[in-house]
Amino acid sequence: MDKSLHSMIVGTGVGIPNKILTNHDLEQIVDTTDEWIRTRTGIETRHIVEDGQATSDLCVEAAKNALDDAGLLVEQVDVIIVATISGDVGFPSAACFVQKKLGAVNAYAFDIAAACSGFIYGLDVADSIIAMQKAKTVLVIGGETLSRITDYTDRATCVLFGDGAGAAVLQPSDGNRGILATLLKSDGRLDHLLYMQGLGTKCPPSHQSVDAGAHFIRMAGKEVFKYAVTAMGEAAEQILKLANITVEEVDLLITHQANYRIIDATARRIEVPSEKVFINVNKYGNTSSASIPIALDEARKSGLLKEGQIAVFVAFGAGFTWGAAALRM
Ligand code: UT7
Repeated sequence: MDKSLHSMIVGTGVGIPNKILTNHDLEQIVDTTDEWIRTRTGIETRHIVEDGQATSDLCVEAAKNALDDAGLLVEQVDVIIVATISGDVGFPSAACFVQKKLGAVNAYAFDIAAACSGFIYGLDVADSIIAMQKAKTVLVIGGETLSRITDYTDRATCVLFGDGAGAAVLQPSDGNRGILATLLKSDGRLDHLLYMQGLGTKCPPSHQSVDAGAHFIRMAGKEVFKYAVTAMGEAAEQILKLANITVEEVDLLITHQANYRIIDATARRIEVPSEKVFINVNKYGNTSSASIPIALDEARKSGLLKEGQIAVFVAFGAGFTWGAAALRM
């Protein structure tokens, strides 16, 4: 048994809202074109919530599907970690709403705010909790309803984001499968390039803040793009070293799905062939913390990622935060 393997993923699931917003729909809302969006980002559609649906609803669906996949009962869940920047309310956490709606009476629950890197942060925390033998079954969920904080008059951002949730259930490793390494990074000096100001306590909501659209995501896209390409490329290189694996051993690279050009640049940096690079940004757009677990579930359930194979995750987001994980499924 490899003692360095602490935990493994025993089930995955998604919660995706039914409503679809296409590039052609967006052409009717802002000055954009399907061609611009597809060629600059790779996005064709994104799913968005209906009135009344909240982040925790998507997370609960993802969690139920992941628990079913793992063959576990909700009472067996010890910890619920929700990675989100678009929780249901200011507080309590989205994770506590998920606990209530799931009926996970034996769990404790908390959120992680690491934007698009949140799922990898969650995996690292879950792996540590399991390594410390403080819990046996940990649900890690990435869930967002970014459509609620998207400015649909700003063409530079509104074409990018979508809603959804993805969940993974972690349990102690069987000695062969599990998380090989994780890498977490942040640089708070770059907070001004991607943020949402309006719901915090520094500038509390007011008529003026709402009029100014302070409750929407603001992003310096070109700058973020440059940092994302560099940071994700470096993280991808570093995680191979930390996990002590070669690029040839990687069966599937799953990066944060923000822009196919960033995904492509990350893959090129470590020279992973395109057939080993998972892409679904075309269907869902950028779902922040949900993008990697949604992709992971799709990759597993479509047979692209099988038991025993090695997956590498790489993400980058607001903060800035970034990180990577390597695991044997
Ligand atoms: O998830 C967290 C991390 N986030 C990311 O990784 C996102 C990183 N950024 C990006 O993916 C890209 O920067 C964007 C997709 C956001 C933008 O692509 P870009 O190639 O960097 O375009 P740009 O911002 O430099 O804009 C190029 C042109 C501008 O027009 P001018 O100034 O050249 O005349 C924009 O006004 O494209 C214009 N533009 C648009 N045109 C049509 C910007 N948005 C749109 C739009 N439709 N939706």
